[in-house]
Amino acid sequence: MAINKFLLFALTFQLLLILHVSSESSLITPKKFLELAKSPEVFDWMVRIRRKLHENPELGFEEFETSKLIRSELDLLGVKFRYPVAVTGVVGYIGTGEAPFVALRADMDALPMQEAVEWEHKSKVPGKMHACGHDGHVAMLLGAAKMLQEHRHDLQGTVVLIFQPAEEVFAGAKKMIEEGALKHVEAIFGIHLANWIPLGKTASLAGSILAGSGFFEAVITGKGGHAAIPQHTIDPVIAASSVVLSLQHLVSRETDPLDSKVVTVSKVHGGGTLRAFKGFSQLQQRVKEVITMQATVNRCNASVNLTPEGKESVPPTVNDMNLHKQFKNMVKDLLGEESFVEASPLMGGEDFSNFAEAIPGHFSFLGMQDDTKSYASFHSSLYRVNEDALPYGAAIHASMAVQYLRDSNKGSRDEL
Ligand SMILES: *[C@@H]1O[C@H](CO)[C@@H](O)[C@H](O)[C@H]1NC(C)=O
Ligand SMILES: [Zn+2]
Ligand SMILES: [Zn+2]
Repeated sequence: MAINKFLLFALTFQLLLILHVSSESSLITPKKFLELAKSPEVFDWMVRIRRKLHENPELGFEEFETSKLIRSELDLLGVKFRYPVAVTGVVGYIGTGEAPFVALRADMDALPMQEAVEWEHKSKVPGKMHACGHDGHVAMLLGAAKMLQEHRHDLQGTVVLIFQPAEEVFAGAKKMIEEGALKHVEAIFGIHLANWIPLGKTASLAGSILAGSGFFEAVITGKGGHAAIPQHTIDPVIAASSVVLSLQHLVSRETDPLDSKVVTVSKVHGGGTLRAFKGFSQLQQRVKEVITMQATVNRCNASVNLTPEGKESVPPTVNDMNLHKQFKNMVKDLLGEESFVEASPLMGGEDFSNFAEAIPGHFSFLGMQDDTKSYASFHSSLYRVNEDALPYGAAIHASMAVQYLRDSNKGSRDEL
């Protein structure tokens, strides 16, 4: 009898335990998001969208068809959105409509270059190409939207979907912030496809992951004349040569050798690019000084434009420590311990930095390298997206949002 009683107790206890466990697991987990993202229903749909976008690339602030496609897919999913935000931008909302709010970001623009890859879905627009994978970024965020919308009743707050224009000219994020895209938003996550990281792995770090970046354009004027009578001319070519050489000293002589900076004169008929993790605005100032003063020494005049063709400069992209910790844990849950790679900072620039300056943000790279093919680096006319990476991106987006909202709610309860 006594044994039976004990057994009964044990059974009831187990039953309770099972009930408890199953009610927990009805909440969506990262692994389920990955399964779902790999299912034909989500995967094939993302691939179709990505290829459509790839065929019709649009430059910064001209993403009208891209934006239209995004909005029609959101409509079909039943996701509410704000439009336009920054000309072509779209901001979608999934969940309770109440705090906490967490944002996921995808950029939408292409580059002014000719695609050199011959394939079925090659760019149909001469001189324009998705050579940075932003077509894939949009597809991944829509994939996340589809899955989150399916599980909207599990969300403990609101996921904000940010489809951003004009990343390549560093202008879109800033404009979206000005137009209220981050209203109520506590944290933001961004993902970039990466050809140097293995498929299914993701890389990031706490702190500065990308450099502050900007451009410059200088016009040096002299006085023309015959090459055989140099005394009657003021040669701007000599002045420009001095400028090019002197600019090298900003990195080699004025920068701590343990800091990274880049000053590149990329065209002698034009200008160049600036990169730095620290002291970016001082660097801009010195570039201006060196150009104008070297011109003066050589009896020429110079003007320097730090935002040529409307291209802005951006601060370094700095990942928030706590978000990084949360991200790393989520990736380990989703993909396993070995799938998180500690990233090295890159001299590349990203206007995600503007979001991450306004609120805590986290930017990561998603691998697409595999053994069978080689993938050209971004901004190459041979750039290709490995579409097998799309489900990982969608699952990482969705899982991160769900986890952030859960942790945020737990955090606020703890504080009460
Ligand atoms: C430089 O600018 C000054 C003032 O505008 C002008 O007098 C001079 O001719 C210019 N020099 C050249 C080489 O263009
Ligand atoms: Zn790019
Ligand atoms: Zn990019």
